[in-house]
This record gives sequence, C-alpha cells and structure tokens, in this order.
Amino acid sequence: MQILVTAGPTREHLDPVRFLSNRSTGKMGFAIAQAAAERGHAVTLIAGPVTLPTPPGVTRVDVVSALDMLDAVQRHLPQHDALVMCAAVADWRPARASANKLKKSDMQPVLMLEPNPDILKTVRPLKGARLFVGFAAETGDPLAEAQRKLADKGLDLIIANDVTQPDAGFAVDTNRVTLISATEPPAGLPLMSKLDVGRAILSWLERHVRA
Ligand code: C5P
Repeated sequence: MQILVTAGPTREHLDPVRFLSNRSTGKMGFAIAQAAAERGHAVTLIAGPVTLPTPPGVTRVDVVSALDMLDAVQRHLPQHDALVMCAAVADWRPARASANKLKKSDMQPVLMLEPNPDILKTVRPLKGARLFVGFAAETGDPLAEAQRKLADKGLDLIIANDVTQPDAGFAVDTNRVTLISATEPPAGLPLMSKLDVGRAILSWLERHVRA
C-alpha cells in the first residue's frame, strides 16, 4: 500500500514570531508512519512543526499551517491508497497575518479569527476507493463523539482516545484507544505503546484495503 499520514500540530501565525497552536507533539502520527514503513508500505508523512526524527524509509513533507497541510494532502493523496489524518489541525487562524513583527502598541486586545477548512471533508471528493482514517481526541465521552465524527467526515475508521488520561494522548509514548468503524463493533485496545497502536491501525488497513 501507499500510505499518506499527517502528524503533529499546525501553527497559525499572527506575525513571524507569534502563532496559535496546540499541544500535539506528532508522536502518534510518527509511530503510524514507522509501523507502516516497517511492514513494507510506501509512506509519505506530512508533518507539522515537531522535533521528532523521520522514521527510516519514510518520505517526509514539512508544513506549518493548516492551509499548507491541506495543500500538501491535496497534492499527495492521488498517489496513495490510504490517508491517516493524525494531525491536530488548528481549527482557527488569525484573520490577518502580518509579514512583520507586530509592535505591542499596534496589537488589539481582541484577536479576530477565521475558521480553517476541514482537511478530511475538503478531500472527501477525491476519496474513491481509498481508506480514510481519522482521530478523535476527546475530553468528554470519546466513543459518542468519535462515532459522530466517523459519519460526519465520511471515514472508514476513527481512532478515539481520551486525552485527559495521563498515560494517553499528548506527548506520551503510550496510548489507550478504541477503533471504531462503520461496519464492525468498536474494538477497545488496552494501554500500549504508540508504535503498537500504529501496528494495530496498520493491521486494520491491511484487512480492509480495496486493491
Ligand atoms: O473535528 P475534529 O478536529 O475533532 O476531528 C479530528 C479529525 O479530523 C482528525 O483526524 C484530524 O486530523 C481531522 N481534521 C481535519 N481538518 C481539520 C481539523 C481536523 O482533517 N481542520
């Protein structure tokens, strides 16, 4: 399979030195890319700003903002059989970005934002027979929200995780997830390394690829 993975946060700049972002470190997406490459798949990894090394055998494309990531996904998707959207894409960006550093005296106490496009929904018309996998990092009821997003974004599989758990979610090497698809009952996995979560997702993709 040719697998396209996105990972990490996006940065939404106000000016060259200030940005909006989130706590994503890219560990889960990089683990998926590593698991896929280890199993002999061709992997393109679209990474937001993170400090992780590129897993061996993986082709990496670095991006900064959500719009950059959308552009990269649109360019690379046609050559791939599966898209795994693991990136924590910022939902909003500043309505205006300044090319020069803003002076404190020029800044307003209220920041005007505009919504970023939903990457999965934007590329849905290109899906065809490709498998689309999304993530739902929740702080409330992970299963109900994930099931809603699976349908809303037209996904084949969504990985739900509760990011309030200290050993799951952001910045740690372990995760506790539930795999939810439209056709099978939810499969809750025990606490395991992010690499093993990646391997479980790869097994699912290998079972469901429509080649
Ligand atoms: O709606 P929410 O952001 O929680 O959905 C998470 C899923 O949607 C993740 O797979 C994420 O990568 C993807 N996403 C996206 N474009 C956005 C925001 C999230 O594709 N603008």
